Amino acid sequence: MIGKNYRKLLAGVMGAAMALSSVASTTNAAFIAGENITLSTVSAASSSGSVIYSTDFEDGDVSYFSNRGGDDTTVISSGTDEKGNKVLVASGRSKDWNGPAFHFDKVCKPYTEYYVSFRFKGKYYTGNTVSFQYDDMDGTPHYKNLIQNISTSDWYTVKNLKISFTDEMQNVSVYLEGGQDDIYIDDFTVEEVPVVPIEDDLKSIRKVYADDFKIGTAITPDNLSSKSFMALVEKHFNGSLTAGNEMKPDSVLNQTACQNYFEETGDDEDPQISFSAAKPFLNYCKKNHVPVRVHTLVWHSQTPDWFFKEGYKDDGEWVSKEKMLKRMENYIKNYFTELTKLYPDVDFYACDVVNEAFTDQGAPRNPGQQGQSGSENSAWVKVFGDNSFIEYAFDYARKYAPKGCKLYYNDYNEWSTGKTNAMIELAKKLKAKGTLDGLGLQCHCNITSLWPQAFQYDNMLTAMEAAGVDLQVTEFDATIEKATEENYAKQKTFFSDMMKVFEKHSDSISAVVFWGVTDDRSWRAEGVPLLFDGDYKAKSAYYGVVGDREEKDIPEPVTEPTTGGYPAAKVWGDANDSGDVKMNDAVLIMQSIANSDEYGENGSDPNHITAQGIANADVYENGTSGLTNKDALQIQKYLIHSITSLDPKDFTE
Ligand code: XIL
Repeated sequence: MIGKNYRKLLAGVMGAAMALSSVASTTNAAFIAGENITLSTVSAASSSGSVIYSTDFEDGDVSYFSNRGGDDTTVISSGTDEKGNKVLVASGRSKDWNGPAFHFDKVCKPYTEYYVSFRFKGKYYTGNTVSFQYDDMDGTPHYKNLIQNISTSDWYTVKNLKISFTDEMQNVSVYLEGGQDDIYIDDFTVEEVPVVPIEDDLKSIRKVYADDFKIGTAITPDNLSSKSFMALVEKHFNGSLTAGNEMKPDSVLNQTACQNYFEETGDDEDPQISFSAAKPFLNYCKKNHVPVRVHTLVWHSQTPDWFFKEGYKDDGEWVSKEKMLKRMENYIKNYFTELTKLYPDVDFYACDVVNEAFTDQGAPRNPGQQGQSGSENSAWVKVFGDNSFIEYAFDYARKYAPKGCKLYYNDYNEWSTGKTNAMIELAKKLKAKGTLDGLGLQCHCNITSLWPQAFQYDNMLTAMEAAGVDLQVTEFDATIEKATEENYAKQKTFFSDMMKVFEKHSDSISAVVFWGVTDDRSWRAEGVPLLFDGDYKAKSAYYGVVGDREEKDIPEPVTEPTTGGYPAAKVWGDANDSGDVKMNDAVLIMQSIANSDEYGENGSDPNHITAQGIANADVYENGTSGLTNKDALQIQKYLIHSITSLDPKDFTE
């Protein structure tokens, strides 16, 4: 093992976020739909980082690995492959999802990117999958397949799988699963990816347009753990942030909680929700005072079918329209109640109440099961028979949304005539009722297609202005067919022309939000549709957006120290929350690290550490790495008077 960097995160400290991209030997840029994980190729040039953990298992040490999946039979041990080479062996696996897991929190620190490389093989055949797992702040596990179903008969090499996490994640691991044969691992290495500085001398996009509209972007939890990525967000885009997926119905609606609530109360019209997936995003917005676009409440896509079914069962009957109306009202009520309870200080200034309800012809979607964004069917139409659910959604949103939260209908291909007209009609009608404030224009463009040209978008905006509502560009990106110099130049011209059009209509446009920041992490990565490349460098598209405009002088938001979703500290060092600081506070910190099942947050011992205790105890480099033994050491130093304060603002080594 080389340079072991011990930085143990307290099990029980905080929840979610990840960055995953890879150069696996057979994996090209690919998007895994669902839980916000992007696999993309990373340029080889940026892969020479410092090695922080490396083993060929010759020393027989497998202590950084354990059995994932919790069966009693799997054994992780040192052994040999069929050629007699020393390797890690996972044997006795009784379920497909049992397998060897490597624990990042033993050697890695949050907000740092790592390349993970290793070789693996199944004993008899390889039908294995490389997956990633973490627990969020509420202890809910999130897992995702990274490289799926690799079927080779030989060793498979995973090279430079990019991983990072925030201090809101616990029990972060990469594991192998699939089949029940023995799995071998060899040559396991974790390298720190060198931090690429962003170009600080560039003009800030949001400052350039400060007099016109807010400039924003969408981010996913993986972005939060990359320092360079977030430096770009802060510099250019933090006028408005949208959660890329985590505030959508499938992230917020909790099937188990819905079913349990139904079982306990007999009420199946009060959907239960959780923002655990969105908390890292919301914590960032809170800390940095960034206004949030809430995206989205009512949508045919990324909405589970069980939400529309009797007993919240996957195979239940479709519910009646009457029942669905009740569910819709309570869902919207619970959504906003929970959001404003958790984040009373965040400026939820806009909300996409209904997303993508019209076809390009302006008709309702076909009734049916949920699909992905695009031309698929709608379960809302299935239950309601038509698009009448839209009006109800706006009624309820107006009733329950916080004051100051403007309500939007949001759609893509907004330039197709049928859709433009349907949006205008809807806006007029609901504006008159007082339930709608604006239209969200997704603006997902493809510069090689005929539509939209900037002048056509200009005409469309003029037409929409007749509805007399606010307009926001909500998901701007523009793909090119092939990454050639010529296409990049066209992309620059397109962005430049579109920004001129937006500027011309700035009296009616209150925000221009891009759908992402760097091409490699875009949902349409293959079309390189954004303003920055995977090395955080401005593309010509950026220069098209900024042009020769000057930055305006605007006040910078004041950043608050992060509590990672934890309460503010009451008494620094007071891990057991007893009101004072004693030796048993240091002991509790060490116990909670060494034996999290008993003493960690949610541990079973009655004297386990609490969320308040964790907030109090995080005195060493507060907010950067959760609780470590160094926090305990600081307290001991304080008790023997070798330091005089535990307040992080007075912190010294
Ligand atoms: C996209 C996300 O970026 C992807 O990660 C996800 O797999 C699918 O949804 N219109 C919308 C957005 O309103 O919510 C969609 O976001 C893109 C199209």
